[in-house]
Amino acid sequence: MTVVDTPTPAFTMPRIGDPAPSFTAATTQGDINFPSDYAGKWVILFSHPADFTPVCTSEFMTFASMQEEFAAYNTELVGLSVDGLYSHIAWLRTIKDKIEFKGMRDVEVTFPLIEDISMEVARKYGMIMPGEDSTKAVRAVFVIDPKAVIRTIIYYPQSTGRNFDELLRVVKALQTADHFDVATPADWRPGDRVIVPPAGSCGTAKDRMDGEDEGLECADWFFCTKDLPEVEVEAAIRHR
Ligand code: BEZ
Repeated sequence: MTVVDTPTPAFTMPRIGDPAPSFTAATTQGDINFPSDYAGKWVILFSHPADFTPVCTSEFMTFASMQEEFAAYNTELVGLSVDGLYSHIAWLRTIKDKIEFKGMRDVEVTFPLIEDISMEVARKYGMIMPGEDSTKAVRAVFVIDPKAVIRTIIYYPQSTGRNFDELLRVVKALQTADHFDVATPADWRPGDRVIVPPAGSCGTAKDRMDGEDEGLECADWFFCTKDLPEVEVEAAIRHR
């Protein structure tokens, strides 16, 4: 008897700095071509394990309630699970009609939720972690910039709901870094001091330590910060 090996479908893992893998998909808001439909916008593409599950429900309600705030930073939300479209529709209707969580109720999810029964998109984006579950996605988050480049990837296991303030903070930090050519230190929030690019020469390092570069505070030549007021940050990155 000849045994024919069935090839295992590939699980790819895009990396930070890679172009966002493209796909077309049916969603609760109609078909989308990704990422071309989102040219010029930041996108948070995120997966969840399954419809009609409690952690996912709490996440969708939270994300939906923050959608306007993300939009103010030119950021669109796109969800995905390996459930089908009718399950998605039924779940989102149930959320709106029946679920109350942390004072949120009557929540309408108006961002697209991708159906991915074939797992094609989940596999392309490395959203399936077989060690955790080979038939459902984990909680993956991809922050994609207006040129469709992946800028941040965060994974959470199925049991842990995401922190959506942190996702908004990451978007603001990326946009601030791009606009002002700075980096943001631990726990940075708009209004906190920012880190200037490292000194590229011995001369610059010396000038900085001698206090020649006005406005910089240097703990050492490689660790210099400057003030960046919140109003300047918001004026640059907040669109409405
Ligand atoms: C949930 O969303 O509640 C959930 C989904 C999959 C595994 C565990 C929890």
